[in-house]
Amino acid sequence: MGCCHAYFAATGAGDEAFTMDASTVTFGAGCLKEAGDHARALGMKRVALYTDQAVAALEHAAIVRKSLAQAGLDVAVYDEVTVEPTDVSFGAGARFAAEGRFDGFVSVGGGSVMDTCKAANLYATHPADFLAYVNAPVGGGRPVPGPLKPHIACPTTSGTGAEVTGIAIFEHTPLRAKTGMVSRHMKPTTALIDPEVTRTLPATIVASTGFDAMSHALETLTAISYARRRKPERPSLRPVSQGANPWSDIAAVEALSLIGRYFVRAVQDAADVEARTEMMYAATLAGIAFGNAGCHLPHGMSYAVSGLVREYRAPHYPRGGPFLPHGMSVVLNAPAAYRYTAVACPERHLDGARHLGADVRGAAPADAGEILAQTLIRFMRAVEVPNGLSAVGFSPADVPALVAGALPQSRVIGNAPRAAGAPELGQLYTAAMRYW
Ligand SMILES: [Fe+2]
Repeated sequence: MGCCHAYFAATGAGDEAFTMDASTVTFGAGCLKEAGDHARALGMKRVALYTDQAVAALEHAAIVRKSLAQAGLDVAVYDEVTVEPTDVSFGAGARFAAEGRFDGFVSVGGGSVMDTCKAANLYATHPADFLAYVNAPVGGGRPVPGPLKPHIACPTTSGTGAEVTGIAIFEHTPLRAKTGMVSRHMKPTTALIDPEVTRTLPATIVASTGFDAMSHALETLTAISYARRRKPERPSLRPVSQGANPWSDIAAVEALSLIGRYFVRAVQDAADVEARTEMMYAATLAGIAFGNAGCHLPHGMSYAVSGLVREYRAPHYPRGGPFLPHGMSVVLNAPAAYRYTAVACPERHLDGARHLGADVRGAAPADAGEILAQTLIRFMRAVEVPNGLSAVGFSPADVPALVAGALPQSRVIGNAPRAAGAPELGQLYTAAMRYW
């Protein structure tokens, strides 16, 4: 691929190297039953099992618990994880970990559960004030000093990729801003990815998590090149969100072609085991991709959207009050974002559309943003997500608050191939109000 991502031809003040983080993953139907054996092999004796109350009532949590018990492990269950965690819920999870003196962690659930477990493991292993490890400017941005205790992550949805990343996201309630901790040390030691968990997922959840995975792959593919990102002060401080690189490209491209083929089928038919399994695998690849490169504008803009939603309440999610699921709050920004970023690397935007199934033969570079935006809009309409921010209750009067909510996401927004400050973010939110 050419344009500004000619990695090894780049010269100048950027970084000369990138880091490839591999993830240990076991993928296959029924593999949750392997949890006990993996835990014992990792030296666990006393295990904290993190989940939420909805997942705790499902057979997946029971299967993992039984497997751990059969392996002779002492298991304490923490099922107080909340959907869309906060500093308060992270703190409660961390206290449970610190008081229990565990030598290993197992998480069974979606991104919220796995992220809470990562944070609990972090504070139990390397105690500090809560804000110490939180990304600047909200927190102190202190680097995690060393390895954590072993963590086996068992995802029960097919989108977040949290099982293969060292990222934990929460809402900092005093500022109503999403932020998190990021460190290679926080990546789960191993992941058990069992596609059987997707059989009972409602269509709305498959749609939202599928868009999350699609966005992880597309944002990775179109992120700024690592060779154009400012060099870190010390090599060990090279960020996890290091920009697009040859390693993340491999996973992003494969994820997009699977998502292009199987996403709509997986949403429309819960009995389509092939499509739901392929989406689960694609989500894992997309997680590996963004865990090695970082997301950019659609994610950076999404946290203000989900934090400020007033009326919309997504069906099938276990939470009272207004709620816009993460994947949906991401994709509602995406067409507007790619129309803006395409000029920086049109070939990559066209490649993204092509891998998702669009016919890009004869397309000019100047059409790249529109072609990718229209490709996304076709998926949005096919799986019936709301038509832009206005369809979930926002109006142009909300744009200043959305911009203010997005600005603390400078770590993510700065990973875009084209810079976006407050004026540009305002234009992007305005353009995201309605798409068809
Ligand atoms: Fe995401």
